[in-house]
Amino acid sequence: MPTTRELTITPLHRVLGAEVTGVDLGADVDEGTFRRIYDAFQEHSVLVFHDQRLTDDRQRVFSERFGPLEITINSIGQEKRLHPNLVDLSNTDPDDPRRLVGWDDRRMLYQSGNQLWHTDSSFKPVPAMASLLSGREVPPIGGETEFVSMRHAYATLPEAMKRRIDGRVVVHSILYSRSTIAPGLFNTDQERELPPVRQALVRTNPDNRKKSIYIGSHAWYIEEMPYDESRQLLDDLLAHTTKPELVFQHRWQQWDLVMWDNRCVLHRGRPWDASKHARVMRRTTVAGEGPTAEPAFAARTPAWDGIIPEGVGV
Ligand code: OGA
Ligand code: MN
Repeated sequence: MPTTRELTITPLHRVLGAEVTGVDLGADVDEGTFRRIYDAFQEHSVLVFHDQRLTDDRQRVFSERFGPLEITINSIGQEKRLHPNLVDLSNTDPDDPRRLVGWDDRRMLYQSGNQLWHTDSSFKPVPAMASLLSGREVPPIGGETEFVSMRHAYATLPEAMKRRIDGRVVVHSILYSRSTIAPGLFNTDQERELPPVRQALVRTNPDNRKKSIYIGSHAWYIEEMPYDESRQLLDDLLAHTTKPELVFQHRWQQWDLVMWDNRCVLHRGRPWDASKHARVMRRTTVAGEGPTAEPAFAARTPAWDGIIPEGVGV
């Protein structure tokens, strides 16, 4: 049976995002259809599919068409209930799914890090290529996901700024990004598993050669630059990238599947009334092709102590 009725790809925003209709991702997607989805992904950076009643297994099978999947990191709120390729983003109690977990719960504190503009796994030596997020239960209001294009951001920088940032290396750390939210979100063993990594500040898509900046909440500081100056530059680049008119907001309907290109898109979740409404999401994450910068650290990488700005707990 053909999996394609009539595949249509319709842009949703002037900068990024497209809706794809006419395909059942839970069925066996044929090679021609997959190729068109793949090309649309390279072009539009965010793809929205409605009414995809995926099981965890079916979500994994479709996601793996794009490449090997990441293994979920060990953190609070991920109690290894699911297959290691699935990230559980939900505010229901694992022991009693009818019970909702509010924002005051530590597990939700960790998840609230998703409300900062970020790109998935930029704190890993090989950062994520794509993420696929399935809305299993969604709140009637709030809990949207927002996207901005770091490719558009690069393209609209003044030439002098492009020259200033080309070839630069940024140190990314999830301990840094989570430290801006609350102290002690990781225990010492977990911290040891998550050393800082180096990423290129400007990346090039290998398929279409389009350049993109590469920043987000895990971006800590730029090497070979005074710390304060590098923080200022990262903040300026983030402000340039996330201007309100450039934001594409996705309002979830149950069984939406949204996928995005972590190499050139920042995203963030929006809050909702978590003590009142369930929001149950499953994410699969396609691993990147390789490191974006040489993994070796410069000898004078500052020690973790002393680099965190005043007033920010670690
Ligand atoms: C993610 C993420 C935001 C959201 O799944 O990686 O950041 O809206 N999600 O749930
Ligand atoms: Mn994310």
